[in-house]
Amino acid sequence: MTKPLQVVLFLVAALRVASGPCPTISASLSADANVYYPNSTEYTLAIERWLVSSIQQPQCVVEPSSEILPQLILRDVALTLSFQLETVHATKTPFAVKSGGHTSNVGFSSTTGVHISLAQFNYTKLDVSTGTVAIGGGTNWISVYTTLDGTGFNVVGGRNPAVGVGGFTLGGGYSWKTNAHGLALDNLVQISIVLPDGTATTASAISNQDLFFALKGGFNNFGVITEFTFRAMPQDLVFGGFNNFGVVTEITFRAIPQDLVFGGHLVFDVAQLAAVNAAVVAFEQNNTDTRAAVVHGITGPPAGNGTFAAPVPGVQLFYDGPVLPEGRFSDFFAIPMLTTTWAGPITFLEWSGTDGGVSGLRGYFHAFSTLPHTTEFLQDVTDEVSLFGAMLGNTSAVYLSVAIEPFLSTALSNNDATFRSSAYPPV
Ligand SMILES: *[C@@H]1O[C@H](CO)[C@@H](O)[C@H](O)[C@H]1NC(C)=O
Ligand SMILES: *[C@@H]1O[C@H](CO)[C@@H](O)[C@H](O)[C@H]1NC(C)=O
Ligand SMILES: *[C@@H]1O[C@H](CO)[C@@H](O)[C@H](O)[C@H]1NC(C)=O
Ligand SMILES: *[C@@H]1O[C@H](CO)[C@@H](O)[C@H](O)[C@H]1NC(C)=O
Ligand SMILES: *[C@@H]1O[C@H](CO)[C@@H](O)[C@H](O)[C@H]1NC(C)=O
Repeated sequence: MTKPLQVVLFLVAALRVASGPCPTISASLSADANVYYPNSTEYTLAIERWLVSSIQQPQCVVEPSSEILPQLILRDVALTLSFQLETVHATKTPFAVKSGGHTSNVGFSSTTGVHISLAQFNYTKLDVSTGTVAIGGGTNWISVYTTLDGTGFNVVGGRNPAVGVGGFTLGGGYSWKTNAHGLALDNLVQISIVLPDGTATTASAISNQDLFFALKGGFNNFGVITEFTFRAMPQDLVFGGFNNFGVVTEITFRAIPQDLVFGGHLVFDVAQLAAVNAAVVAFEQNNTDTRAAVVHGITGPPAGNGTFAAPVPGVQLFYDGPVLPEGRFSDFFAIPMLTTTWAGPITFLEWSGTDGGVSGLRGYFHAFSTLPHTTEFLQDVTDEVSLFGAMLGNTSAVYLSVAIEPFLSTALSNNDATFRSSAYPPV
């Protein structure tokens, strides 16, 4: 009796797809737009993510064209969202907007409903006359840094080049340049957005200021403000349990001059953990140079026998300038190291690279803010990595790492005051 039952279930599933919003959306879009169904390779590629554990299977992938009509309307995005309002909302179909697909959180840019892919919004345009860089909502940092390489300009962007511009920037954006210039969202000139009713508009310090403020920290699909009522966004626009400000199609950053840099990854022997922890604490306490940045990693590597080995210390050191001041990272270089990629002066692209690291695993992140780190705190972190490494190494886990990221206490107020309008207080 199992066979007929399977057939019935299949038919029900097929009917659901056919009666869902995808065919209606598909029939309305321009020739350059694409709608992919689960039977195609393009669909599989479009829903691919950094971690496979946050992949969901949508009814279809809608890939709007970035073509702008004479009346400045992004037709396909507008139409898709209008259908969200009329059809998708009516059928309670969830949706998500994907930029780079790097977030580990299920549902932030993945969905079982309508997956809106910004793959065609993939461009970086430097305008030296206005001192701005306009970046398409579906671009990743590899493309941004590759395009800006050699221009003498950069933006306050992501550290991992495989991350997308959209989610990174709307969520905050810790950068190698944060000590000097704040978060990515502290450096925005304008955000282009299509609202849920299909209206294409911009938000900036001079237009839709309330929306500009809300978007800076507004995250992905995740609804953060449910009682807020915007001029163009009445309270009934709630999709599948999430609130959404709209689809961000372009983000304009201020351009900042970029010179050569120094940087590298230093890996130390297990025996040096206490010394490395102490050097990180000393750097955090005493460094005042906004061009210098450190990320410290305490990592449990596989021991090859079903457990993790003792935690291994490693640091990434970055200096945003062509001349490294004497002694800037001397505490770190005084510790015997196993390997290093330290180099300079090199270009920012050489430092950033185009490799986002290991992908295709299942996994997740947690993050939290602390008061300034102490050596005792870092020893506790080391002990936790040992403890959980011993437990997780027994399962299918292959990697466990804690990153300690000290920033200057002035990081969020060091940037130009005209850009300091973010939802995050500058303390
Ligand atoms: C894939 O599915 C869609 C929607 O059901 C259909 O229109 C299309 O013809 C199918 N393509 C292939 C190659 O089967
Ligand atoms: C964006 O364009 C670059 C080439 O300019 C390409 O390598 C990259 O894969 C594209 N990204 C997406 C998401 O299509
Ligand atoms: C920071 O610098 C001060 C003054 O040079 C020194 O006394 C202190 O030990 C340093 N802090 C650390 C953690 O090294
Ligand atoms: C696994 O290997 C590591 C180092 O190779 C060793 O220290 C540890 O005792 C081993 N653990 C088990 C459970 O065999
Ligand atoms: C790992 O698994 C082994 C075998 O099941 C067990 O003896 C050991 O206690 C486990 N270790 C931890 C830390 O859970």
